[in-house]
Amino acid sequence: MSADVTTPKNPLGQADSLEQDAARTLPDLLARSYARYSRFTVAAAVFDEEGRVHYGVNVENAAYPVGTCAEQTAIGAMVTAGGRRIDKVLIAAGSDAVVQPCGACRQRIAEFAGETCEIVSVQGGATTERIAFWSLLPHSFGPRDLD
Ligand code: THU
Repeated sequence: MSADVTTPKNPLGQADSLEQDAARTLPDLLARSYARYSRFTVAAAVFDEEGRVHYGVNVENAAYPVGTCAEQTAIGAMVTAGGRRIDKVLIAAGSDAVVQPCGACRQRIAEFAGETCEIVSVQGGATTERIAFWSLLPHSFGPRDLD
């Protein structure tokens, strides 16, 4: 069989290419964030066990505590699409600073996080810092405690 010369090949492999695509998408997605009160826009991309990407933005509310984080929105999209394991979460903030998931979102991610789950920061449309998710929430309470 002859090599496919029409398809550009990424030496980093498809997964990395998907990650770059998601990193490039997040800054544009920040415009859809509904951050009417804090003006702090956040966008997240959750990668599931099939390598599919699910996006979310923060959605605030006049009743402040009712607002949802970008990670929460993205996890809802993943579950709705049938995803059940989180392999990676990319996070971008309108401030372009590195933002780690809040405490409540760490618990939400923990519900579905695989052993090697990573939190990947996105700045200027590119990935910067990477941190092992379970280092952010050691000794946690999770689904296995209820088995
Ligand atoms: N926020 C997120 O969406 N994700 C985070 O990781 C940190 C905070 C949102 C919640 C709220 O809408 C705004 O940022 C300010 O806290």
